[in-house]
Amino acid sequence: MLVQGHHRQAIEPQSDSRTALILDQTLLPHHIEWRTLSTESDTAQAITTMQVRGAPLIGVTAAYGLYFATRDDPSDSGIHAAYDRLHSTRPTAINLRWALDRVRAHILPFTTTERPQAAWAEALRITAEDIQTNVAIGQHGAQLLHQLASTRAGAQASPSPTLNILTHCNAGWLATADWGTALSPIYHAHAAGMAIHVWVSETRPRNQGASLTAWELAQQGIPHTLIVDNAAGHLMQHGLVDACIVGADRVTATGDVANKIGTYLKALAAREHRIPFYIAMPTSTIDWSISDGVKDIPIEQRSPREVTHLSGLNASNERQEIRLTPGETQARNDAFDVTPAKLITAYITEQGIRHKL
Ligand code: MRU
Repeated sequence: MLVQGHHRQAIEPQSDSRTALILDQTLLPHHIEWRTLSTESDTAQAITTMQVRGAPLIGVTAAYGLYFATRDDPSDSGIHAAYDRLHSTRPTAINLRWALDRVRAHILPFTTTERPQAAWAEALRITAEDIQTNVAIGQHGAQLLHQLASTRAGAQASPSPTLNILTHCNAGWLATADWGTALSPIYHAHAAGMAIHVWVSETRPRNQGASLTAWELAQQGIPHTLIVDNAAGHLMQHGLVDACIVGADRVTATGDVANKIGTYLKALAAREHRIPFYIAMPTSTIDWSISDGVKDIPIEQRSPREVTHLSGLNASNERQEIRLTPGETQARNDAFDVTPAKLITAYITEQGIRHKL
């Protein structure tokens, strides 16, 4: 999608040098800086520090990490050890394991000499497929939004011409190789001429909504308004939200969804107000081995400092961190929560709209 008017991807493989360029998301929206990944440890660090984040992009990036590791040590034991190191970078998004499984299974039958080339080719395929998948999610989701707009127009005497969609966290192109999941239907509907406005919830504590979703919607020229996380229920109560669309980090075989902390509360409020709540996701986000999201999905615990402190640009345009809380106050920082399947209206996948998994 667009960065200052030019089409870019969140990860750009460089076939000549066999490296991968990433947009450093820890610096957005204030600085646009691209970094080159050329080793397994660069890659692991980029995922751990959230220079790249979002379930699909974590998976795509890890695929290049396993290529770098295989280039340096193509033995079985080297590949298994690198798999474990990359797999331990973040615990919740299943796409990480999915992509690593896929590269490892693909390369092990080759000779050690052939393995690096096979790993690079598989990482490229995973990247290209992620983009195709997200385009398909966008096309199916845009149809859904058109239906929603015409149903609403039929139901109201004086229909507002604009569809108001609420999203949480960042499930846009920055969270994938390109297009995004939750934002892809919005990009497709907007490109088809539909009047659309996005409520962007800020997504404390790392503020992916405020820093990333707002930035990418602005780059794309999509009307949007930032709200504090706690405002969502109030907006729904006042009829200002037509639908919610969010992404997913891991979905159980029964349809429970782990996504950024705060998703569950929005789904509860949407149910109370009979507002459709959609999950946009590739089918690679389904973990078919588990069925109880609350019990079985590992929830990442992050540093309390992300809750007690805030960082941004100061008046001199320098990055600065400030403390919000009394020094002795303890904080807890669960990065994700689980929304039970019963609160979800439908799943927008590359295969179409599913009301049940
Ligand atoms: O902690 P993050 O920023 O990696 O969390 C990202 C999310 O929760 C996204 O909503 C999710 O990965 C879906 S991305 C298409």
